[in-house]
Amino acid sequence: MAFKLNGVVPWGRNFGEYRDMFRLTEDDLKKKLAGFGDGPACFNREFTERGGSVISFDPIYQFTREDIERRINEVRVEVMEQTRRNRDNYVWMKIKSPEELENLRMSAMKRFLDDYDKGRAEGRYVYHELPDRLPFEDDHFDTGLSSHFLLMYTSLGYDFHIASMTEMLRVCKEIRVFPIVDLDAEKTELIGSVIDYFRKDFRVDIVSTDYEFQKGDNKMLIIGKER
Ligand SMILES: C[S@@+](CC[C@H](N)C(=O)[O-])C[C@H]1O[C@@H](n2cnc3c(N)ncnc32)[C@H](O)[C@@H]1O
Repeated sequence: MAFKLNGVVPWGRNFGEYRDMFRLTEDDLKKKLAGFGDGPACFNREFTERGGSVISFDPIYQFTREDIERRINEVRVEVMEQTRRNRDNYVWMKIKSPEELENLRMSAMKRFLDDYDKGRAEGRYVYHELPDRLPFEDDHFDTGLSSHFLLMYTSLGYDFHIASMTEMLRVCKEIRVFPIVDLDAEKTELIGSVIDYFRKDFRVDIVSTDYEFQKGDNKMLIIGKER
């Protein structure tokens, strides 16, 4: 089935948020990173500006800057309405109000949009849809990141998750997934079955992080090749 932009909710985070979600250290920042489902996050831009190496993959990168910008403006009102309605599900500590959240997200996505054409030309934004095969050899990347995509959209199902993570683990020595709760901030059965599947052949850890915005979503899953 063709991927449709009007079925996507593009909503992007920044470098500081990725660093906190994934506990990226100074050493990690020297590694070769891949971001899966990075969408309109400005992590790629800001990490690249710091001299880092990262390639972002997302099906929305088949569309033009104008198309993505239009879709961001379409979903903005609805996402913010939902956030206000479910205000109690969030921790308003680092981000103090829905207004601050909206400004943070819109400025992150603007930074992404302003970098998009340049980043595409440099091969930093690559059109790719999980779980398709990636155009990279085994272990090309040190670490693959998935922020607010895998394990969140649980309706994609067990098979989708196993196939996607297997392909990510082919091209990455390690993958990190944040958060490990679904869209309703509920811990899902999926996490247990995914861990059981990968534990046979990989090192699997659940690690607390410095980032908590949805209540309870302060943990990430790490699956690595080195035991
Ligand atoms: C909620 S956004 C998260 C964006 C970014 N990772 C962040 O945290 O700021 C989810 C992203 O997953 C992407 N996505 C949807 N289906 C995908 C697939 N099959 N493979 C890779 N990415 C996908 C969407 O296009 C969207 O950009």
